[in-house]
Amino acid sequence: MIALRGVRVRYGAHVVLDGFDLELPDGSITALTGPNGSGKTTVARVLLGLVRPDRGVVVGTAGLRRAAVFQEDRLCTRLSAVDNVRLVLGSARDAAAGRAALDALAAVGLSGRDVVVPVRDLSGGQRRRVAIARALAVDADLVVLDEPFTGLDADVRPLLTERVRERCHGRTTLLVTHDPDDVARVGARPVALRSAAPVPVGVGTGRGGPAADVGS
Ligand SMILES: Nc1ncnc2c1ncn2[C@@H]1O[C@H](COP(=O)(O)OP(=O)(O)OP(=O)(O)O)[C@@H](O)[C@H]1O
Ligand SMILES: [Mg+2]
Repeated sequence: MIALRGVRVRYGAHVVLDGFDLELPDGSITALTGPNGSGKTTVARVLLGLVRPDRGVVVGTAGLRRAAVFQEDRLCTRLSAVDNVRLVLGSARDAAAGRAALDALAAVGLSGRDVVVPVRDLSGGQRRRVAIARALAVDADLVVLDEPFTGLDADVRPLLTERVRERCHGRTTLLVTHDPDDVARVGARPVALRSAAPVPVGVGTGRGGPAADVGS
């Protein structure tokens, strides 16, 4: 079990999370929803070890192999899609890594020219798919997906949600999303963040409550 317990994060005087609790059951997908600015990306960054809480603890993440789709793509823009994915698969000269990268990209609907030109020459939605392919290519223990489907058109979304469902099956996963359809399609357990501090759903307002399980 990976868990955040009593976590406080602040940026200067701005307290974003306070007394925040979240449990990610082993091997299943938890979907974190909530309004803009409520702290979802901050939770993702805490799980990835990129933000250190000034109070509280993060348990269960030591030594885990982590993979992420960040809210922004964070691709190497001068490299091709294949080379971006190869970077997380080991040696760039390894033929098996090259084939695995092509397979990972094909699974998100990218092939041909789209996977060999620099990713800066792709559309925003195509770059998003590369970022998803890269995260899902890794055999990670913990997968953090921060609004991975943003910018994807309705036609391609089912393919991508299905790919996430398949690849994250059996892996402990946090999916940040605003879309209840995504939650259902990937078979995630939904948890809600409300306001600038976590508040249990249906339990009024206040700061410091746990993220609320909103049913599945
Ligand atoms: N590096 C930072 N420095 C200062 N404030 C920050 C920083 N990162 C986030 N914040 C603030 O923390 C709050 C929570 O931000 P966060 O990005 O976690 O929200 P979010 O729920 O992911 O929002 P969105 O749905 O827009 O992505 C916001 O008020 C934001 O302005
Ligand atoms: Mg965010």
